[in-house]
Amino acid sequence: MRLAGAVALVTGASSGIGEATADAVAAAGSKLVVSGRDADRLAVVAARTGAIAVPVNLADPDGPDRLAAAALAAVGRVDLLVSNAGAGWAGPIGELSAATAADMVMLNLLAPMQLARMLAPAMAERGYGRLVFVSSIAGATGVRHEAAYAATKAGVNNLAESLSYELSGQGIGVTLVLPGVVDTPFFRSRGRPYERRWPVPIRPDRVARAIVDAAARDREVVYVPGWLRFPAWLHGVAPGTFRRLASRYS
Ligand SMILES: NC(=O)c1ccc[n+]([C@@H]2O[C@H](COP(=O)([O-])OP(=O)(O)OC[C@H]3O[C@@H](n4cnc5c(N)ncnc54)[C@H](OP(=O)(O)O)[C@@H]3O)[C@@H](O)[C@H]2O)c1
Repeated sequence: MRLAGAVALVTGASSGIGEATADAVAAAGSKLVVSGRDADRLAVVAARTGAIAVPVNLADPDGPDRLAAAALAAVGRVDLLVSNAGAGWAGPIGELSAATAADMVMLNLLAPMQLARMLAPAMAERGYGRLVFVSSIAGATGVRHEAAYAATKAGVNNLAESLSYELSGQGIGVTLVLPGVVDTPFFRSRGRPYERRWPVPIRPDRVARAIVDAAARDREVVYVPGWLRFPAWLHGVAPGTFRRLASRYS
């Protein structure tokens, strides 16, 4: 995909990976719409990148509709959708409230699905576009005490793969991005800090570079850092071995 001159919509652009992605996409020459909940932080990103800011809560049932409508009204079309907004929760499943579980499914899984549903048909009409889904390695393997979060990301992985089969003949590329541990406010927001010594968190701009590179080079699945493809591969080819290792070390 040629990013210069393309029109991009980045969700979760008020912080972390989305903010870094907005910087990288703007630097590549795309016209940009950025979204998030925090209007003040979003306005700072928009001013820096020359973007149009659309503050929306994507956990609201009509949030994705409002975002797609506002983006199309502002810039006319979307060539590149980066569905990045997301939130985590960690702890024993019995301590997860019904409201938090529902919000997490809305934000992490349903919102990317709704945005794809609303924006892909016009991309197909033009025969040009890309959907990027920011998932997580947690969705490829499962993680102790992150069952609900991991389940939403597993759904995103399947959404992206299925859409790539469906849309590849219509000029629409699909990229699934699976980051590992990234140094962002994600852990503070979820209410439980990252406490392991390994893997060491990577910087969000590394994920942003991988997203821009994947969009430009039509890559379908990107692990960041790249070595994460190994545990995902082991999980697929030897699930019993993977579970024994994960039970001991995860
Ligand atoms: N950090 C990691 O280690 C890691 C690892 C793997 C995958 N990921 C994934 O990467 C993505 C970005 O996370 P991050 O690490 O950059 O975290 P972050 O810094 O906390 O950013 C999350 C972004 O999502 C937005 N967001 C949260 N709830 C929202 C809602 N209800 N409606 C609309 N926007 C909402 C936030 O907006 P406001 O701040 O304005 O509310 C913020 O812009 C997420 O999908 C996450 O699951 C992160």
